[in-house]
Amino acid sequence: MTRLRDKAMPVRVLDIAAGHGRYVIEALAGTDVKPDGILLRDYSDINVAAGTKLIADRGLSGVARFVKGDAFDRESLASIEPKPTLGIVSGLYELFPYNAMVRRSLAGLAAAIPEGGFLVYTGQPWHPQLEFIGRVLTSHRQGQAWVMRRRTQGEMDQLVENAGFRKIEQRIDAWGIFTVSLAERVKA
Ligand SMILES: C[S@@+](CC[C@H](N)C(=O)[O-])C[C@H]1O[C@@H](n2cnc3c(N)ncnc32)[C@H](O)[C@@H]1O
Repeated sequence: MTRLRDKAMPVRVLDIAAGHGRYVIEALAGTDVKPDGILLRDYSDINVAAGTKLIADRGLSGVARFVKGDAFDRESLASIEPKPTLGIVSGLYELFPYNAMVRRSLAGLAAAIPEGGFLVYTGQPWHPQLEFIGRVLTSHRQGQAWVMRRRTQGEMDQLVENAGFRKIEQRIDAWGIFTVSLAERVKA
């Protein structure tokens, strides 16, 4: 958000699979940069309801809204108005094995975010408890066990780069299980 303000660009946040939206809403408490708008999306009605309540509880209904939407629907992402300048995709792509889906989602983000805007994306290169989480976190597979689709950082970065972004920064935990990266939308 600071980078956008430094470039005199509007700060319009879009999270395409926000869960309850907690980390976006709470991040606002730690920054002086006030966003011009926040659009949180998720395909789960339960999350849309919980996130909408969180926005209202924090008195942010004037700046933030939560709507239902499919993170893999390219056209739906591409047509978002006003155009987001800071896209977020966190904890989503590892639920799905197919890169065609990821490409479609990233293409939608690339169509939505103008040159100079940013994308924050997470990665999970590996996990020490694959079987445990596969059997416990079954809600997104209608109760069936799932295999987390780990992507090496190289694979994730390539998908993002091919969509039209230039990676500029990365954070990683001590065990290399979770990564958070920042990329800038470059000229198409
Ligand atoms: C593991 S959670 C991550 C939530 C949050 N982004 C985070 O990082 O804490 C995955 C989220 O993706 C959402 N999701 C799964 N498939 C989706 C889709 N096709 N479109 C939008 N959201 C989706 C789920 O409802 C869930 O909130």
